[in-house]
Amino acid sequence: MRSLPCRLESCCCLLLLFSSGVQGAPGAPSAAPEQVHLSYPGEPGSMTVTWTTWVPARSEVQFGLQLSGPLPLRAQGTFSTFVDGGVLRRKLYMHRVTLRGLLPGAEYVYRCGSAQGWSRRFRFRALKNGVHWSPRLAVFGDLGADNPKALPRLRRETQQGMYDAVLHVGDFAYDMDQDNARVGDRFMRLIEPVAASLPYMTCPGNHEERYNFSNYKARFSMPGDNEGLWYSWDLGPAHIISFSTEVYFFLHYGRHLVERQFRWLESDLQKANKNRVARPWIITMGHRPMYCSNADLDDCKRHESKVRKGLRGKLYGLEDLFYKYGVDLQLWAHEHSYERLWPIYNYQVFNGSLELPYTNPRGPVHIITGSAGCEELLTPFAVFPRPWSAVRVKEYGYTRLHILNGSHMHIQQVSDDQDGKIVDDFWVVRPLLGRRMYL
Ligand SMILES: *[C@@H]1O[C@H](CO)[C@@H](O)[C@H](O)[C@H]1NC(C)=O
Ligand SMILES: *[C@@H]1O[C@H](CO)[C@@H](O)[C@H](O)[C@H]1NC(C)=O
Ligand SMILES: *[C@@H]1O[C@H](CO)[C@@H](O)[C@H](O)[C@H]1NC(C)=O
Repeated sequence: MRSLPCRLESCCCLLLLFSSGVQGAPGAPSAAPEQVHLSYPGEPGSMTVTWTTWVPARSEVQFGLQLSGPLPLRAQGTFSTFVDGGVLRRKLYMHRVTLRGLLPGAEYVYRCGSAQGWSRRFRFRALKNGVHWSPRLAVFGDLGADNPKALPRLRRETQQGMYDAVLHVGDFAYDMDQDNARVGDRFMRLIEPVAASLPYMTCPGNHEERYNFSNYKARFSMPGDNEGLWYSWDLGPAHIISFSTEVYFFLHYGRHLVERQFRWLESDLQKANKNRVARPWIITMGHRPMYCSNADLDDCKRHESKVRKGLRGKLYGLEDLFYKYGVDLQLWAHEHSYERLWPIYNYQVFNGSLELPYTNPRGPVHIITGSAGCEELLTPFAVFPRPWSAVRVKEYGYTRLHILNGSHMHIQQVSDDQDGKIVDDFWVVRPLLGRRMYL
């Protein structure tokens, strides 16, 4: 008598473990997909689905336009085996499938997996094509698996269809490699309600450094062939460039990376400028800022920060490069706060005019948005702001970027501490022509 409930119980447990497959727990390797997320591979009409399983399995996505019923379309992909660098050498199977020929702006339903196990159904909207539409982005950095303050609101707004894409400006999970990469697993599950419905575009931050950024490279699927360290893509009237500031700091992984990335940035900026009449905005995202006015000893506090002036104050600095090619907006994170700068070049403020500083700005605009929430809490500011600092907010939150058309961009900062209140709101306006040069 006594043994029966007991046996039933363990039987149930096993069944639960096998059918949910959520944990990747020892003894229950599962082919059920988890950590599902999207990215845009850069080719119009396409979307890449990435997920993880604990045993090798086929990689298929079934999708369709009907909200319920069968999913008539199929796409196949492949998986790669990721071995984490921790002592357990945990193995993750990373599946990647790219959907092509999607109808611009259409809403799709999909599930991913194989006959050995399917994900639940998710929804996403295919990106529109061409330059004549108005993309909306959620932008933030420094989001952890613990204290992820911005996530509930981002999740709601994603389900309400408020965004076309997410830019996560480095620093994930704190850290993805921790606890034999289990923190990475937990983080990827946490962002799934956002990232399985919107292209979740990334750049590496300092918290991704372990084992030569291997968790970052393995878990995300960014465009191009540089493992997501640097790449660019087009979104409506904007060209968006993502790069690694970390190549300037972790030189033991290869000094050559600084030069390779710099050369790539220059040629990408040249190409973008040839196309500037059609696609006027150039936006960059990189983790560590060139300038900041926080109360810490970070690189951005140094007069000659590495990102701004390069190695030894002269090699491969990015401020001159971005100024030369007329970059409009530079998005940063790393500081756990929000800061907006007046248009700036070489410590000089280049307002369009005193009344309308961001209308025809004569230098790039910088935004630091690293307060999405993590275990390290917020970063305080130095008592006295610098003359180039326009707005500083030490609250959890994230940034909304609405690219209305080729001449108008609307930027808002959302505060999670103040229940979604907009705590900064401004427009960047540049004429359609003559964009390259700051005069
Ligand atoms: C680190 O990764 C980069 C690119 O992913 C590679 O070029 C470099 O050689 C690696 N460095 C080491 C020390 O493995
Ligand atoms: C730039 O514009 C802002 C807002 O009008 C103003 O406070 C600031 O002093 C201006 N800076 C310069 C250098 O003109
Ligand atoms: C761009 O958008 C702004 C703000 O909505 C609008 O005032 C302006 O007329 C638009 N420009 C063009 C060329 O559509």
